Amino acid sequence: MATKILVIHGPNLALLGEREVSVYGSFTLEEINQKLLAAAQADGVELEIVQLDGEGEIVEKIGQARKTCQAIIINPGAYTHYSVAIRDAVAAVSLPTVEVHLSNIYAREEFRHKSVIAPVAVGQVSGFGLNSYLLGLKAAVELLKAK
Ligand code: DQA
Repeated sequence: MATKILVIHGPNLALLGEREVSVYGSFTLEEINQKLLAAAQADGVELEIVQLDGEGEIVEKIGQARKTCQAIIINPGAYTHYSVAIRDAVAAVSLPTVEVHLSNIYAREEFRHKSVIAPVAVGQVSGFGLNSYLLGLKAAVELLKAK
């Protein structure tokens, strides 16, 4: 079975390219996904990529991944800062999870400084724009190789 990694883009990330360009950059979600797919192919792994606005949908997707995927890369968007439900879903499936953020959440408003997901993730990549995802993918691939 090919190694498969689930990539979850959380709420409002479908609006990349239009949304707060000075914070998030002018690239679109589609451009991120194309770069991720190319990098995954070069690394010999499969990706399932979803964008979900709803907290419940994200919880459901994480639960399903325990049967189909070996790792998760997640940008939980605003849920990062308060979703105990998503935190518990990540803890429940015990798949190695990499948290990514386009912006440096620690350099922004105080309410963004806390991630409730970080304690159950293997690690976090924050502040490198589109490259946060590519670095997150690299981290996930290396984690799986080391298993
Ligand atoms: C974000 C940071 C969050 O604080 C914010 O709510 C987002 C995007 C990021 O990728 O930088 O929606 O996760």
